[in-house]
Amino acid sequence: MKRRTFVKNLTAASLLLGNAASALSAQMTQRIEPAVATPGFMPDIEIILRAVLGPADMLEGAATQLWRFTGEIMKGDRSALSFLDGSGHIPLIRVRRGQRIRIHFENQLPEQSIVHWHGLNIEQRMDGHPMYAIEPGERYVYEIAIDNRAGTYWFHPHPHERTSFQVYQGLSGMLVVHDEQEDALNLPQGEHEIPLMIQDRTFDGDNQLVYIGNMRHNWMMGFSGDYVLVNGRVGYSKTVPRTAHRLRIINTSNASLYNLRWSDGANFRVIGTDGGLLESAVEQFALTLGVGERVDVWVDFSAQTAGSSVHLLAESYTPSLQNFTAEQGGATMQDNARPIASFQFDSAEAVPVAPPTQLSIYPALSEDEAGNSNAPRGVRISMMRGSFYLNNRTFGGMHDVPEENVVKLNSTEVWEFANDASMGMGMGMGGMMQMAHPMHVHNVQFKVLSRTRQSGQSALHQHLSAGFTDYGLKDVVLVLPGEKVRVLMKFENHTGVYLYHCHILEHEDLGMMQNFRVEA
Ligand code: C2O
Ligand code: CU
Ligand code: CU
Repeated sequence: MKRRTFVKNLTAASLLLGNAASALSAQMTQRIEPAVATPGFMPDIEIILRAVLGPADMLEGAATQLWRFTGEIMKGDRSALSFLDGSGHIPLIRVRRGQRIRIHFENQLPEQSIVHWHGLNIEQRMDGHPMYAIEPGERYVYEIAIDNRAGTYWFHPHPHERTSFQVYQGLSGMLVVHDEQEDALNLPQGEHEIPLMIQDRTFDGDNQLVYIGNMRHNWMMGFSGDYVLVNGRVGYSKTVPRTAHRLRIINTSNASLYNLRWSDGANFRVIGTDGGLLESAVEQFALTLGVGERVDVWVDFSAQTAGSSVHLLAESYTPSLQNFTAEQGGATMQDNARPIASFQFDSAEAVPVAPPTQLSIYPALSEDEAGNSNAPRGVRISMMRGSFYLNNRTFGGMHDVPEENVVKLNSTEVWEFANDASMGMGMGMGGMMQMAHPMHVHNVQFKVLSRTRQSGQSALHQHLSAGFTDYGLKDVVLVLPGEKVRVLMKFENHTGVYLYHCHILEHEDLGMMQNFRVEA
């Protein structure tokens, strides 16, 4: 099937109309009053963050009209809020572990919204669960005591059935946490620390965004765009000195996954993943990033020649693992991967830096602590008759927690995500039912214990798995068709209702999501 044919058949108007009904039904579920500032909280940093309609320069020529964040610092360190170089519309919030942050989120969109802090261990009311979605014109005040390790986290809207649309329209941001352990390592910082947010988009002839229509089939496939943007920009490029850099790479596309490599064939030196720094660096040739995954890379450009450049190359895959790099316009083909970011080297003298060896020490999660190591909590991923299920359930009521989705506070558990590749065969849709699902759990960081495959390894599976970053602590793990992935996590600090879901945003909106409750 041609991806391009279904990318075309829609208008933004049909989307808005089609979803007005479901937005209304969401509204009729019980109303929760938006959180307000509590006088005793005493924030170190206070930010106003607005979701608004506004333009950004994503391509040469006309500006693209987006739904985007704007904001200001009301109190504390001015550098806590900036915008990524590129189109300038993607916010970066920079905080330190132990800081208290108050964020006034103001919804100036024409529909409900709420912001989720992806990767943070946080109390339920601050997590941005869709039950807290606020109306246009309303404010929701987040008060967060940052208790995560130094690392690259992010934030995005999470209103039920509208997450995919709102993120696509331009609403996502990066959240960087620093801590003392990281300070001591002297990693590249300031202009030598480069955040790279990867997203794909399709544009019409007037540089405006094109999304998929309401047809359920399109949503099942997930949206993959014609262009891969870095920091909101098509053709991102940056002039850098020939020395060590730290790249914080994150895939915040709606559905696509990427296989990344350097144009000069160098290895990536991975120093961190979703939940922060690793204990020691890992070298690998390629990086495979599903939606929501982050990787922290250390790179020394000192052996490069002044005036030359290297490119970060990406192969793009749809969730059904079609490599669609070749279909894309405006790209120089190079081995089926195309450059998405270019680094040009300035004429300053090269300054080699020894790579860091020992990185971070953090409390190890041990499988021995898990009570259910022999009988992991299973999460079976399946699709039937155009619907998406986790354990044969689609997302129920906003507040409904299935009986078996209850975990104990301070317990350590093994979960097993099983992507049954045989599901849905014979439904007349061929290979589309076999999809890679990036599975995400709110409120925890987990350790990937194992990955097993039902049948023999395909060449594509081998190619993609060579780029997996299954180390350190993670909150998203990509589960390929036919795979079982076991993860280990501990439910700490907060009781309440949280979510786990597929992070293909269209799948999440179609109900591939479940509440779970952490109980004392
Ligand atoms: Cu990044 Cu429930 O989300
Ligand atoms: Cu999340
Ligand atoms: Cu999925």
